[in-house]
Amino acid sequence: MSTAAAAELTKVTPTNRIFRSAPCSRWPLIAPSILSADFGNMERDCRTVLGDGTSGGADLLHLDVMDGHFVPNLTMGPDMCKGVRKAFPHTPLDVHLMVAKPEMYVEPFAKAGADHFTFHIEVHQGQAAIELARRVRAAGMTVGIAVNPPTPIDPVLEIASHFDMVLVMSVNPGFSGQSFIEPVLEKTRRARAALGPDQRVEMDGGINQSNASKVREAGCDILVAATALFGLPVADRLRGVAALRGS
Ligand code: DX5
Ligand code: ZN
Repeated sequence: MSTAAAAELTKVTPTNRIFRSAPCSRWPLIAPSILSADFGNMERDCRTVLGDGTSGGADLLHLDVMDGHFVPNLTMGPDMCKGVRKAFPHTPLDVHLMVAKPEMYVEPFAKAGADHFTFHIEVHQGQAAIELARRVRAAGMTVGIAVNPPTPIDPVLEIASHFDMVLVMSVNPGFSGQSFIEPVLEKTRRARAALGPDQRVEMDGGINQSNASKVREAGCDILVAATALFGLPVADRLRGVAALRGS
């Protein structure tokens, strides 16, 4: 590996530090998925969950990228990421690639201002996944590996040392508004036990104010929620964030 590539591996920007640092007093972190935001008023809607930065709002924004192949839905791409980055220069952007060829989008999302890039173990396993993780880090982002509900966690844990985050899916990906699949909590417990303190465990799908305590107790560091936040009246959303956090 060249010296320049090695330096890139340790590059930590102010915003992506959140994915790589040890837990802080705000734990767990709350990541609204903008999939359920109003696409015609994206900036305004994101502000309703982020607050003013001092009022306990959400910690990051989660961008669900779907290609109509890996999942039966089409959502957003790097241009949406670029727009959100422009509106929120300091908010960590967590991009979740539910696509058949994530390798095509590493540099486009890095250029669009993404901090973190998660792809699925169902798409790349073993050495191929490790190689892609290196490419993501070389592009200046932290990297995550996601696992769908029917897929075992073991192949993820075998390569987890090469990743900053493991994302345990608690619905079959494709759409927001589905019901939480409770047995996946066991995968979260196993991931938390296997990972180090500077690695994150994220859960995504069907998380709401009623089941969030189980998700937190299983050791999840980052709770993603679309419907449970953007489905609330605007005036209730910051309280919705606090309820997910358990504060
Ligand atoms: C699942 C996506 C999720 C989804 C979450 O396909 O990866 O991020 O938007 O939506 P809710 O919170 O409504 O289940
Ligand atoms: Zn997601």
